[in-house]
Amino acid sequence: MIQLHDKTFVPFISAQEIDSAIQSLAQQVEAEFGQEIPVFIGVLNGSFMVVSDFMKHYQKPCELSFIKMASYQGTTSTDVVKQLIGINQDLSGRSVVIIEDIVDTGNTLVELKELFKAQNIKELKIATLFFKPEAYKKDIKIDYIGISIPNKFIVGYGLDYDELGRNLPEVYQLNE
Ligand code: IMP
Ligand code: MG
Repeated sequence: MIQLHDKTFVPFISAQEIDSAIQSLAQQVEAEFGQEIPVFIGVLNGSFMVVSDFMKHYQKPCELSFIKMASYQGTTSTDVVKQLIGINQDLSGRSVVIIEDIVDTGNTLVELKELFKAQNIKELKIATLFFKPEAYKKDIKIDYIGISIPNKFIVGYGLDYDELGRNLPEVYQLNE
């Protein structure tokens, strides 16, 4: 068991399980793009570890950029998603894959879709390491899902509880 701020968390998903899920995501995306060079967009802060490992497993030419969004306060998602760092790259005619650490309510996805609408993108796909089906309230299709999990708060592997826990190599679940 570990403690972050006022809460305790128990081990939930091992580093090895995470790595297999990411390898499988990378293979699925790789199979889909043939010789085309996709642009991956990592969503900061949470996705930095996912993106790093995803890129190491992706064996064909690809490009990478980051966007920074935030919606969470403490352990609950808020409806207001803020864009903190935008994309300054020309994405017209490109195939873009958004790489998320986790999709919870889907508010961030809606905001991301909106942001990219103005750009003349060829196709926009969404990949996420973790997905909470019971919390998801939107009808945007998620193209690649690593691991579906129950609607409980998790930390580790990039995910935080009020900024702590991002450096844990495995994932922990809120102890309640
Ligand atoms: P959504 O907008 O509700 O889908 O939430 C997306 C963002 O909230 C993710 O990119 C994470 O940064 C954060 N988030 C959602 N669920 C969790 C969780 O269980 N632990 C930590 N952060 C989370
Ligand atoms: Mg995030």
